[in-house]
Amino acid sequence: MIRLDSISKQNGQRVIFIETSAALQKGEKIGLVGPNGAGKTTLFRLITKQETPDEGQVFQDRGITIGFFSQDVGEMSGRSVVAEVMDGAGEISVIATELAQLEADLCDPDKMDQMEAILERFGDVQARFEELGGYGLDSKAREVLHGLGFSQEMMSGDVALLSGGWKMRVALARILLMQPDVMLLDEPSNHLDLESLIWLEQFLKNYDGALLMTSHDRAFMNRVVNKILEIDGGTLTSFSGDYESTNSNAR
Ligand SMILES: Nc1ncnc2c1ncn2[C@@H]1O[C@H](COP(=O)(O)OP(=O)(O)O)[C@@H](O)[C@H]1O
Ligand SMILES: [Mg+2]
Repeated sequence: MIRLDSISKQNGQRVIFIETSAALQKGEKIGLVGPNGAGKTTLFRLITKQETPDEGQVFQDRGITIGFFSQDVGEMSGRSVVAEVMDGAGEISVIATELAQLEADLCDPDKMDQMEAILERFGDVQARFEELGGYGLDSKAREVLHGLGFSQEMMSGDVALLSGGWKMRVALARILLMQPDVMLLDEPSNHLDLESLIWLEQFLKNYDGALLMTSHDRAFMNRVVNKILEIDGGTLTSFSGDYESTNSNAR
């Protein structure tokens, strides 16, 4: 689904990749390993085209969807946690936002005089929401958030009020809900407690798309992946099995 063909990349003075190649095939779950500063995050950014290689090419199959989670979560504000998570899912989330606003308007005494128009719009929007499977999406979003440790109260609360660590979980929930063809997860386990980690492990095991991930928690990663891609001295090498078997192969 994704292929890196003879990539070279330098960040400033530092050489990260030297004419190296790798591929992510359908259904593969790959753990990306290498020391700090080896270029793991850079590799993700090459795949998402946030960075370009100095030489070589990155190919991806036509029409595939890619979801990328990184520590760099960006701004989140102006809506509830659950709306933020559903936003990753396209048109349906725009409609969900309008539906929530219309529901609020229906109970707003200041808008009594517009009630007829609001009700009519509500009917149309609700029909479209149902057509797109919106009610299913809302409960799926809540299921994912629950798995990542959110209470029902937190899910309905303003996303802007969350701490950095909880915003990370929101960003992760967005990618999980999106169910892309390819998931790129750069350190998804960093801000999770044990219970959420166990839930995430199960989720990723059941996910049938392709996965490329890094994690400082090797035991967690080993339980999820079936292949290892190692960055060593600018070269990418893949091994089947988990990280432990990589080590014993090397010896
Ligand atoms: N924007 C940047 N400009 C210059 N150097 C960078 C930049 N981002 C990362 N680097 C350097 O590139 C190398 C690889 O970084 P990174 O891909 O983040 O490694 P990893 O994720 O494996 O820890 C590091 O030496 C880092 O200092
Ligand atoms: Mg990194």
